[in-house]
Amino acid sequence: MPFIEAPTTFYMGRRYDPSTHRLVDEVVYYDSRDLTTHAVVVGMTGSGKTGLCIDLLEEAVLDNIPAIVIDPKGDITNLLLTFPNLRPEDFAPWINLDDARRAGLDPAEYTRDVAQQWRDGLTSWGIVPQRIQVMKNAAQFSIYTPGSDAGLPVSILDSLRAPREGWFGYEEAHRERIRGLVTALMALIGRQVDPVKDREHVLVSNIFENAWKAGLDLNLEDIILQVQKPPFAKLGVFDVDTFFPEKDRNKLALELNNIIAAPSFQSWITGEPMDVKHLFYTAEGRARVSIFYIAHLSDAERSFMITLLLENMLAWMRSLSGTTSLRGILYFDEVFGHFPPAPRNPPTKEPLLQLLKQARAFGIGVVLATQNPGDLDYKGLSNAGTWFIGKLQTENDKNRVLGGLQAAATATNNLNVDNISKLISSLDPRVFVLHNVHDEGGPILVHSRWSMSYLRGPLTRQQVRVLMEPQRRALGLSAPLSGGMGTPMPMPAVSAASAPIPAAVPPPTQPPAPTPQPTVQPPAQTQPPPPPATDSHYVPRTFAAAPPTPFGAPPPPPDVPEGGVAPKFTPPPIPEGVDDINPPTPVAKPAPSELPAASPPPLPAEDQGLPPVSAATPADYEVLFDNNAYPAHPVPVEGSTEFLGGPVQAAGQPGRTSGLTQQGPSLPEGYSQKPSALPSSTPQFYLPTLISTQQAIREYEKRLGVDASTFGGAQLLYRPVLLAQLAVRYLDRKSSVEEDQRWAFHVPNLDKASLVRWGEYQATPIDPNQVSGEPFGEAYYGTLPPGLTDTKRMTALKADVTDYVYRSATLVIFYNSTLDIYGSPHDNRRDFMIKIQQKAREARDAEIDATTKKYDKELDKLDDKLRKLLRDLNTDKAVLDSLKREDLYTTGEAVLSLMRGRTTYTLSRMSRTRRYKTAAQERAVGAEAEVADIEEQIQQRQQELQNALKDVNDKWAKIASTVEEVKLTPYKKDITLEIYGIGWVPTWYAVLNNQPVMLPAFSGTKAPTPAA
Ligand SMILES: Nc1ncnc2c1ncn2[C@@H]1O[C@H](COP(=O)(O)OP(=O)(O)OP(=O)(O)O)[C@@H](O)[C@H]1O
Ligand SMILES: [Mg+2]
Repeated sequence: MPFIEAPTTFYMGRRYDPSTHRLVDEVVYYDSRDLTTHAVVVGMTGSGKTGLCIDLLEEAVLDNIPAIVIDPKGDITNLLLTFPNLRPEDFAPWINLDDARRAGLDPAEYTRDVAQQWRDGLTSWGIVPQRIQVMKNAAQFSIYTPGSDAGLPVSILDSLRAPREGWFGYEEAHRERIRGLVTALMALIGRQVDPVKDREHVLVSNIFENAWKAGLDLNLEDIILQVQKPPFAKLGVFDVDTFFPEKDRNKLALELNNIIAAPSFQSWITGEPMDVKHLFYTAEGRARVSIFYIAHLSDAERSFMITLLLENMLAWMRSLSGTTSLRGILYFDEVFGHFPPAPRNPPTKEPLLQLLKQARAFGIGVVLATQNPGDLDYKGLSNAGTWFIGKLQTENDKNRVLGGLQAAATATNNLNVDNISKLISSLDPRVFVLHNVHDEGGPILVHSRWSMSYLRGPLTRQQVRVLMEPQRRALGLSAPLSGGMGTPMPMPAVSAASAPIPAAVPPPTQPPAPTPQPTVQPPAQTQPPPPPATDSHYVPRTFAAAPPTPFGAPPPPPDVPEGGVAPKFTPPPIPEGVDDINPPTPVAKPAPSELPAASPPPLPAEDQGLPPVSAATPADYEVLFDNNAYPAHPVPVEGSTEFLGGPVQAAGQPGRTSGLTQQGPSLPEGYSQKPSALPSSTPQFYLPTLISTQQAIREYEKRLGVDASTFGGAQLLYRPVLLAQLAVRYLDRKSSVEEDQRWAFHVPNLDKASLVRWGEYQATPIDPNQVSGEPFGEAYYGTLPPGLTDTKRMTALKADVTDYVYRSATLVIFYNSTLDIYGSPHDNRRDFMIKIQQKAREARDAEIDATTKKYDKELDKLDDKLRKLLRDLNTDKAVLDSLKREDLYTTGEAVLSLMRGRTTYTLSRMSRTRRYKTAAQERAVGAEAEVADIEEQIQQRQQELQNALKDVNDKWAKIASTVEEVKLTPYKKDITLEIYGIGWVPTWYAVLNNQPVMLPAFSGTKAPTPAA
């Protein structure tokens, strides 16, 4: 069946006549924009739901639309089984041996059969191998296996991190996110709690809020410790202990501790972050299909994982701007148990409800499939715009679905429930009643097209491991393949990494002049055995649409290994400016050689005191503290040796150091109990202690990869530095940029004369309100270097630092001149690409509509001609009669015209016109030539339309991948010196493993602080 390859339009299948059990000669297209009102797919087991949804995902991928898939059964992994060459040896490693046995065939025979079946199936649906290849290359396909290291691991830790955009101004959204997170966590320990009523939920939520407000990340250990000893005294009006007595809190802490104690825990905290942007797009902005394989998880773990994913999706979605085009898909393959009717309320239900309500505006299409339609909350589905209803087994199921459909129906869409009810009872496999509220014509019957992916059924974890090996390697997760998960899995005949792209990718197919077929006929003998009964009557044609060009991001380099892995896939953390793993646009300290071109925004990625991750020994850890100024000589250790994990340090609260551990090490050289005499003209600033000893130690362990098994106490030191902080304001009307950024410098060891290389001393800026004129607690003070007490020098450097910032401060903004879109100062390249892709997609979709409309007019003329011809031949009535019967089950011509003006209408009428033609041909004795002429013209229009649409797509795809840059520089008047003088930087001087070390106690806020 020829179909038209049209952007934004999905090729789903063909119409179906249930009375003859035959396909009707009319292609069914689905407008991807309709998916933004979500789709529900129901039908009994084996009815073809998963196949249909895989078709949908394949079409989405061809249009560079990303997808996240929740795959409880492991079926969607089949999306990675695409073999453009369709050779038996491609299929061989993946066939189901049980199926072969059942078919009474040896594996080799069975494999040949399967390959043949896919070849024939695809041919009969007009799909050429090149289309498979294009799809394979169009996206990166990944299988995540939370809680297992078979596929890609996914880490939940990132979800517990303090929001980078800060707390204030986003309170409502963050509270909602916390609600979801805590609900998910509670689900993981098997508790279903009410966010408002249950004290567990209230307590843990407050722990989150408390930490996030302070810009502090949490991990599970933190949460457990704080459940035991909450960092606040009151909850509401009650004391914490009254609200939730300590004994009970300990019980909760123990339950949470079981999560960490479980052997599988490590797999929950290693891996990529569950970050929706990252799951949707590669670093280059290419679409990804991220499949969450969760077949191996317990119910509680699944619930936790899904809730977390949905909550992350919601949070990300809210950061988007509105759109009318489809942006991404969330597909939940078997939603049974996760979206039940009231009063049942599993943790997944609320976020799903929210998604169904809100996702439309943001272009996220939710697709829910289930074989248990009795278990759906139809009230929640009243927003669903598309329903695919396959065969249902029981009356009860049928009635439930029809009830739901009725509730979702609008006044205009001509829903005849009785009619649908009749249809549902007699559906063949892969045939669905398609009800789309956007098609005012009412429901039609559609038979899903042959899927490009090899639908072999659920893959085992070992098979997933094989598929994901290249991506795991790219991420540095090299796990030996042979490593024991039971029976070794045969490696694919073609190794995953070296699978060749077929040498001869066929050029876009020009349809050979199709042999006129009198009517739909049984297969010719060249036709392969026709296993699927519903397809067997169908004559395969050689005509096939030219494969589409994926939209948006440029296609990956040709050497993409099997499994869709882009060789250049960059594991997180992705280099600065590319990814958002780090706070928005943080800037690492420029190396001296790069100076003075320190153009990027002035936020160091880490506090300058922190050592690089590669630091290997505790001694190295000190180096960055500038040993000259702050010597940390080994000194005899006094005091206790405390085991970590014991009581939280008193000095655990940010900003305050309520007590000093007196058993700490003796003083390092150059420190005394009182600050030395200071020049009164120079102001002093004490920076707050933002990192508790606990956190500092944990950070130290993480970075150095050592265990601090003994802790000999810690003391607070204040290191003196020249502290300068400047606020830079960028104002630009054209790009609507109104951005305040801060630059901070900590210069230790300031001498009397030499040049200060400011770029080397960039530090984390701080909100001036958090700086104090008084120390935050008892501490020891470093000796002032000579420069700091030299008033004249201090004054001179004031002008110097301002000058430095004036020369260095540049704000680079991404720009697309065709779309006239500027990025925000916080966008990295991928963020910006995602933005312009979506805008370009909207523009493209509008142009697609306009283009098809133009062709529709021409088709009208051809239609008229044909009708007139038929009328002249006095056969019109007969023809119409023959079509009428089909129309009972499809959509009558009159009703169909209600869909007019939509691209899908124009595309499908192209094939529809052929039906007149075939009928006419039979009767058009004497007028064959004329009929053939019209047919020719229609054929020609179709080709023209397809070319025109391709041009539109290519044009916008090019625009969507064009990123320019605009540089903004501040005026001198827009640079303000906010803080200048002697700064006291808090540092923990601690004894770990009987060694004294310096640990940072100050780190900046998480996000750029807008200057007040
Ligand atoms: N689009 C398709 N192309 C080719 N074969 C298909 C297609 N859809 C379904 N099939 C065949 O039908 C079988 C059953 O279909 P599918 O797995 O989609 O059913 P299902 O409704 O998802 O069943 P369940 O509820 O058990 O998951 C598939 O294994 C496959 O062999
Ligand atoms: Mg299924």
